[in-house]
Amino acid sequence: MLRSLSTAFCLVGLTVAQTFQAEAGTLIGVTTGTATSGYNGAGYVTGFDADADTVTVWPWITQAGSYSLTIRYSAPYGEKKTTILVNSATSGELTLPSCTGWCTISAGTITMPTGSVGVGLKSNWGYYDVDEFTIAYTGSGTGTGTGTVTSSPIDGSATAGAKALLKYMQKIYGSYYLSGQQDPASLLWVTQNVGKTPAILGSDFIEYSPSRVANGATSTAVEDAIAWDARGGINTFVWHWNAPTGLINTSGKEWWRGFYTDSTTFDVAAALNEGTSGTNYKLLLRDIDAIAVQIKRLSDANVPILFRPLHEPEGAWFWWGAKGSAAFKTLWSLVYTRLVNYHGLHNMVWVCNTADSNWYPGNSYCDIATVDIYTSAGDHSAQSSQYNALKTLTGGSRVIALAEVGVVPDPDLMTSGGAPWAYWVTWAGDFVSGGSYNSLSFLKTVYNHAKVITLDELGSWKSTT
Ligand SMILES: *[C@@H]1O[C@H](CO)[C@@H](O)[C@H](O)[C@H]1NC(C)=O
Repeated sequence: MLRSLSTAFCLVGLTVAQTFQAEAGTLIGVTTGTATSGYNGAGYVTGFDADADTVTVWPWITQAGSYSLTIRYSAPYGEKKTTILVNSATSGELTLPSCTGWCTISAGTITMPTGSVGVGLKSNWGYYDVDEFTIAYTGSGTGTGTGTVTSSPIDGSATAGAKALLKYMQKIYGSYYLSGQQDPASLLWVTQNVGKTPAILGSDFIEYSPSRVANGATSTAVEDAIAWDARGGINTFVWHWNAPTGLINTSGKEWWRGFYTDSTTFDVAAALNEGTSGTNYKLLLRDIDAIAVQIKRLSDANVPILFRPLHEPEGAWFWWGAKGSAAFKTLWSLVYTRLVNYHGLHNMVWVCNTADSNWYPGNSYCDIATVDIYTSAGDHSAQSSQYNALKTLTGGSRVIALAEVGVVPDPDLMTSGGAPWAYWVTWAGDFVSGGSYNSLSFLKTVYNHAKVITLDELGSWKSTT
């Protein structure tokens, strides 16, 4: 995610209610009727008079979890009962109060897996008619909790600061949630408007990319991070790596959009295939070396960072993910070995950023496993299904966190949902201060929550052992 260039990465399912006409579903022992006026669509389903009689509609579910189900029905012969089915399994009984004409009733919450899911009503008492099913996402179900995580840094020569940072994360993981905010200006907004200061500052190496520096870009991100460290805060860095070359630079594909696949002709797979003597391969190294200079400045100032390069790879909207997972993984390995082994930089806690097993660099390359989630405004659910996916991916052996969010997860839902993300970092600008993705009153509640750690509560995390 970058500033207003938003919402490219979206993991949400049916957040907006969707209605399915019963008569368009699969009918077993029942038929379509039109005699009772006022139905929606082409008719309604009628003739529930035998035990097996069933109507099933088929929503396509992209996010597993809890959904509200509402039924539009008619029960002209008095109150009836029906049985709710999810993929043919009984999911509760629903009482349909007496209703001439058409009524709607909440059927409560159903839990659905991903894919094409059959949501049905089966006869039970029968003698009612069904017009519509309405389904809306309400939450992501129950996560699988934490368990203790004690992994050593993947960099065997990690500095004392990097070791302490990872240890601190492991220590709070499962019990507390670290608050985070991208961009110093947005972090200041939180302090001034919410009245608390986040524990984590999110920064970006973007403007140190050589193809931006060549166009006059400058940055104070490193100075800001050093100052933040001096205040006792935790630093995380992403790198919107502007492509080394091949910037298209036409309207809508300007040079400064050069981290997007659509704004560069740079082919990462071809560059890596060139081998070490290739022109484009050397440009990759030139760029990594430029970032190494900045990481060294942080290291020299004894500042450890949560380092999250090559983020959101599977989306393919960034050039490092545009040529498949094999090229991506090769590049990840190159970034790691160049910074750690060649430049001897050991102040990084390595943060991976995918829940897709095809793209996960592997536990040997990741200290912390994260995803970025942008849900619709006001959806503060715990995102348990994504949490569970990361837990499965890492075998439960890595701290799991939300590297970017548009909407802050509710700490109570994280706890009750078994999805204790170690930290979240809210993206900058409108996401935090616009009042829509997160209301100010919600942010105040979160930032004052007993389980949410803010800057003043961090203590001497650098001496965690
Ligand atoms: C990009 O295009 C603009 C407008 O045509 C031009 O002024 C600028 O020099 C170009 N920059 C690069 C890096 O090509």
